[in-house]
Amino acid sequence: MADAPPDELRASLYCADVTVTMDGPHGPVTVLDRVSCEFTARRTAVVGLNGSGKSTFLRLFNALVTPVSGVVRTGSVDPVAFPRDARRQVGFVFTDPASQILMPTPLEDIELSLRRGVKDRVERTERAMAWLRRMGLEARAHHSVFDLSGGERQLVALAAVLAVEPRVLVLDEPTTLLDLRNRLRLRELLDSLPQQQLVSTHDLDLAATAEHVAVVHDSRIIDQGPPERMLPLYRAWCASGFPGEAGA
Ligand SMILES: Nc1ncnc2c1ncn2[C@@H]1O[C@H](COP(=O)(O)OP(=O)(O)O)[C@@H](O)[C@H]1O
Ligand SMILES: [Mg+2]
Repeated sequence: MADAPPDELRASLYCADVTVTMDGPHGPVTVLDRVSCEFTARRTAVVGLNGSGKSTFLRLFNALVTPVSGVVRTGSVDPVAFPRDARRQVGFVFTDPASQILMPTPLEDIELSLRRGVKDRVERTERAMAWLRRMGLEARAHHSVFDLSGGERQLVALAAVLAVEPRVLVLDEPTTLLDLRNRLRLRELLDSLPQQQLVSTHDLDLAATAEHVAVVHDSRIIDQGPPERMLPLYRAWCASGFPGEAGA
């Protein structure tokens, strides 16, 4: 893990009593139920079963989801009132890079990200190439994104997010579609970044590298703490039932 990020790259991810509902076939369904948190760790991992609410929780912080009640803050920004400001602070990396890569080639995709911040075309290309070099993808710059491997695509998506220099990275199961080699590569890259990171994952090796782990179950954060305590608990709950469940 790289050195702790400088203070200006830390923005606490805060929420208080947040409830989110979604439309289901029989009316609104509660997807997050009065969730509160304050994450300041360099890397916080969110673990939980499929459908527990992890993605919805992560999406709160850059205004991809709007709560029906409660307060959300990314640093000092209220993403509900100022979604654009929140998105400038928080870069969001989706599980499937295909949902995030918009352009036909890696170079063009990263250039598109840079368009707002870097007006000069030549400089934009140089910066985009520098990101591709950093990802080890220089030789792929002009290839069709459809010809890249899943791991390469995930790195392109991440580069496009990093290119705008967000203060915080939110990553939703970033290693789920990757083989072990690419998983390790992605982890090494995340370790080298200065940004604060909030990452949901089923990859408990990745979760073990976080300073803080939150367990989401049934629309709530049911426990949180250091990985040494939380991951054995989480494994036990997965095997024998979560607190309050029959058989637990
Ligand atoms: N846009 C949506 N409309 C209706 N239900 C949704 C929507 N998004 C998520 N849900 C439901 O909310 C619950 C939590 O989903 P999600 O946050 O994606 O969980 P996780 O990421 O832990 O798998 C699931 O039951 C899912 O079906
Ligand atoms: Mg999810």
